[in-house]
Amino acid sequence: MTIAIRKPSLGSAATAFLAKPHKLLIDGKWVDAKSGETFPVEDPATEEVIAHVPAGDKADVDAAVAAARRAFESGPWSRILPGDRSRLVWRLGDLLEQHADEFAELEALDNGKPVTNARRDDVQGSINMFRYMAGWSTRLTGETIPVSSPGNWHVYTLREPVGVVGQIIPWNFPLMMAAWKLAPALAAGCTIVLKPAEQTPLTALRFGELIQEAGFPDGVVNIITGYGETAGAALANHPDVDKVAFTGSTEVGKLIVKAAAGNLKRVSLELGGKSPAIVFPDADIDRAISGTASAIFYNQGQCCTAGSRLFAHKSVYDRVVEGVSAEAGKIKIGHGLDPNVNLGPLVSKEQHNRVRGFLESGRKEGAEVVTGGNVPGNQGYFVEPTVLANTNRDMRVVREEIFGPVVCVQSFDDDDLEAVAKFANDTEYGLQASVWTRNLKVAHMMARKIRAGTICINNHNYGDPAWPFGGYKQSGWGREMGKEVMEHYTETKAIAALH
Ligand code: NAI
Ligand code: MG
Repeated sequence: MTIAIRKPSLGSAATAFLAKPHKLLIDGKWVDAKSGETFPVEDPATEEVIAHVPAGDKADVDAAVAAARRAFESGPWSRILPGDRSRLVWRLGDLLEQHADEFAELEALDNGKPVTNARRDDVQGSINMFRYMAGWSTRLTGETIPVSSPGNWHVYTLREPVGVVGQIIPWNFPLMMAAWKLAPALAAGCTIVLKPAEQTPLTALRFGELIQEAGFPDGVVNIITGYGETAGAALANHPDVDKVAFTGSTEVGKLIVKAAAGNLKRVSLELGGKSPAIVFPDADIDRAISGTASAIFYNQGQCCTAGSRLFAHKSVYDRVVEGVSAEAGKIKIGHGLDPNVNLGPLVSKEQHNRVRGFLESGRKEGAEVVTGGNVPGNQGYFVEPTVLANTNRDMRVVREEIFGPVVCVQSFDDDDLEAVAKFANDTEYGLQASVWTRNLKVAHMMARKIRAGTICINNHNYGDPAWPFGGYKQSGWGREMGKEVMEHYTETKAIAALH
């Protein structure tokens, strides 16, 4: 394991953005929080403060929601043709592409993730999302309905935008989560108040500038930086917000549901996971080893889909444990801005403490630390990629979402697929699972038996704007991406004429 924690320099565009005063975007204007309060933004690799952003709260959320309501009810956005809306959403993808390196650098600096991954996945994934969703603006069609009631009926449906949407997003993929939320809502014709995570507000603010450059009317997208308990809660509780879309912890997801009850706003939730990766003896074992290693170590393990429970058939268990540990050993840890680094720091001190707590608890509960388990260096929120073997279902590390580069390996010796599926399903979550096998029957039988929103066969952690994504059980409500996401951002209106 190589550790190279030095801070490489930033490009000129990202440097210029950082040096600017950062403000809230409300009704097309950049403004300070009404309270005048700000909070610091940190580089998690060096613990240095890199910026200050406004601490928006209820008063700012009220102003943003009022602006979004005005933009929705009157003004150019309420009359825009679908084709023009489509062009605006498409333009966001083009603008992002023009500034791709700057966004990748800001993301690596703010979140800690490797800049190479940020460019290839976060930024490119966001570009792809705007381009895919742009097409939906012109495809939101209703239907004509044949009815059997007596009389001469003409019944048809319209798909209308749901209205003012509050979007609360996390810090693990800050720009990409903004893209997943903004792109479909804009394509549907909604107006938005977006609240980025307090740990990682920078790319959302920079993206606000692109939204203005693209030519969106004032008030269509408003961006409020602030804490969850203040700005986030105000948005979730707001009586004039029609829908809230949330990605984050299951704990806060439950609070959002309660808050939404006030005006029965629509809710969609992408929450936690404890995804199984299951290696059958007939798998291409080398591929399964590198794939399951990346399933947990990618993005420092801070993926809701992370393959955090690794099940290996007893006949390949030793080889898999050794192989994944060897992969961990090859990982170069360091500052995310270094293009040769594969693993950056965790996002914050809070997450660092949390993951260290899990490592401690795993040791106490008797898990075997095959590799990793420590905190390298004396600066930044780094955690070594860690393999915990001989784990079992009763351990906290196996039951709870760790959200760090820590995998718990268990063996299975039962070839009865029902029994294997029972292991996989032994969790309150149901976001993703991967099955590693060359046997088509095993792959597709397992796919049906596992209760999760995505089943990956011989891959893990991938996604595409066209493929629906979301969770069973306590991993959430609803699906993002694909055609399914348009359900979140539209209402269906039935029109019944009796002639
Ligand atoms: P969190 O759920 O508190 O934060 C996510 C977003 O929700 C942030 O924008 C935050 O400001 C906002 N928020 C927090 N409290 C809120 C409230 N009462 N009302 C409205 N909005 C609120 O997640 P946190 O505390 O940063 O991380 C804790 C754990 O959550 C992680 O260790 C991980 O297990 C899980 N998590 C899961 C994510 C996912 O992608 N599903 C993303 C981030 C965290
Ligand atoms: Mg929290």
